[in-house]
Amino acid sequence: MRMVDLIEKKRDGLELSSEEIKYIIKGYTDGSIPDYQMSALTMAIYFKGMTENERATLTMAMVESGDQIDLSKIEGVKVDKHSTGGVGDTTTLVLGPLVASVGVPVAKMSGRGLGHTGGTIDKLEAVEGFHVEIDNDEFIQLVNKNKVAVIGQSGNLTPADKKLYALRDVTATVDSIPLIASSIMSKKIAAGADAIVLDVKTGAGAFMKTLEDSRRLAKAMVQIGNNVGRNTMAVISDMSQPLGFAIGNALEVQEAIDTLRGEGPEDLTELCLTLGSHMVFLAKKAATLKEARALLEKAISDGSALESFKVFLSSQGGDASVVDDMSRLPQAKYKIELEAKEEGYVSEIVADEIGTAAMLLGAGRATKESEIDLAVGLVLRKKIGDKVEKGESLLTIHSNFEDVQEVKEILYENIRLSKEAVEAPILIHEEITE
Ligand code: URA
Ligand code: CA
Repeated sequence: MRMVDLIEKKRDGLELSSEEIKYIIKGYTDGSIPDYQMSALTMAIYFKGMTENERATLTMAMVESGDQIDLSKIEGVKVDKHSTGGVGDTTTLVLGPLVASVGVPVAKMSGRGLGHTGGTIDKLEAVEGFHVEIDNDEFIQLVNKNKVAVIGQSGNLTPADKKLYALRDVTATVDSIPLIASSIMSKKIAAGADAIVLDVKTGAGAFMKTLEDSRRLAKAMVQIGNNVGRNTMAVISDMSQPLGFAIGNALEVQEAIDTLRGEGPEDLTELCLTLGSHMVFLAKKAATLKEARALLEKAISDGSALESFKVFLSSQGGDASVVDDMSRLPQAKYKIELEAKEEGYVSEIVADEIGTAAMLLGAGRATKESEIDLAVGLVLRKKIGDKVEKGESLLTIHSNFEDVQEVKEILYENIRLSKEAVEAPILIHEEITE
C-alpha cells in the first residue's frame, strides 16, 4: 500500500477501506507516514468527508493506537458523560455524585487543559487535600465502593489522536465533522466507557456556533458510538450564555454544592437532571427516562446526592466539611459588583467573551505553563431575559487584584441590555439517539 494512492483516492471522493484506514493510522503513529502526507489527507477529508464506515474504522484505529483502560472489574454499566466544552459548565461536578447516589458507577478520567477555567480536576483541587494521584487498583476499588472516583489522565491514551489533532491545528483542518467526531469518541472509548452521554453545546460560547453544525456533530458521534457497540446518545444544549451563575474553580464547586442541595441555578439543575436521566437509563438503573429523573430528584431532596459528594471528596483526601461550610473554600480578596449603567432587560451575555474575562482574572490557563488562581472568577446576578434597574449588579467579580478596569470593559461590552422584554433562550434544543 502507498500513502500517495490513498491520498489520491480520498481526493477523488472515494471510500477508503478498513485496511487502508488502519494502515494510515498505524503508519502515522509510528512515524513511517510523514506529516506532509497526513496533512494532504486531512485536507482531502475536510473537503470530501467520510462515510459512516470510514468514521467508525478511523475511531477504532485511533483507540487501538495506544492503551485502553480496562474497567471490567467495576460492577455495572459504566456510563461516561462528555461535554464539547462551554463556559462555566459545572455539570460534571454535579453529575458524578448525583448519578452515583442512585447506583450508577462513575469512573471518571479527567484532565486539566487550557480554557476559561481549569478542568474538572483543577476545580476539585479547590477542596483542600483533594487529589487524583491514585493508582488504577485504588481507582477501581473506590468506584466499586462509592460509585464515583476521579483519576488523572495517565498512560498512553490515543497517541494517534494527539498527533493528528496537533497537525490539524496548524493545517486548518480542525473544523471537519468526521475528524472532530472520531477524535472525541476515540478518547471516550479508550477510557473504557460502555455507554456515552454527549452534551453537545451550541451558541457563542461553544465550539459549534450554530444549531445545524451542533446537530451534525452530535449525529456523527452518536452514529460512531452505536456502530462500535457503545450505547451513545446526545443532548444539544444552549451555550449562548454561560451555564448557571458561577465561572471559576472554587466558585463552581460552591455552585455544584448548591445544586446537589437542590438550591442551584435553574438551568444548571435542569441540564444535570436531563443528562443524568439519560445516564441512569443507559446504565439500566431505570426502565424509563421519567423513572430515572424521579430517582435523581429524590436523591437531591433526601440529601443522598450531597452525601455522595462528601464521601467522594473525603475518599480522595479532600476536606468534606467544605460542603457544610463553604467559607473553607479559597476566597478572593476583592468582590466587586458590575453595576448596570442603565435599566433594561438582559438580551445577551456573550459566553466566550465572559469566559475570557474570567481567564484574565486568573481562573483559567492561557498557556500550559500558566498558574490557575482557584479563588477567582465571576458570579452572574442576571441572566438573559432578566429585568435590571440602573445601578443594580449584573455580576460579581471575584478578584485577587484591585484594579479590574480591563475586565470590566470586556464585561460591559458583552452583557447587552435591551429596552424591550427578552425571552430566555431555550436550554435543551434536541435529544439525539440515532
Ligand atoms: N475536541 C477534540 O477532542 N477533538 C477535536 O477534533 C475537536 C475538539
Ligand atoms: Ca456555572
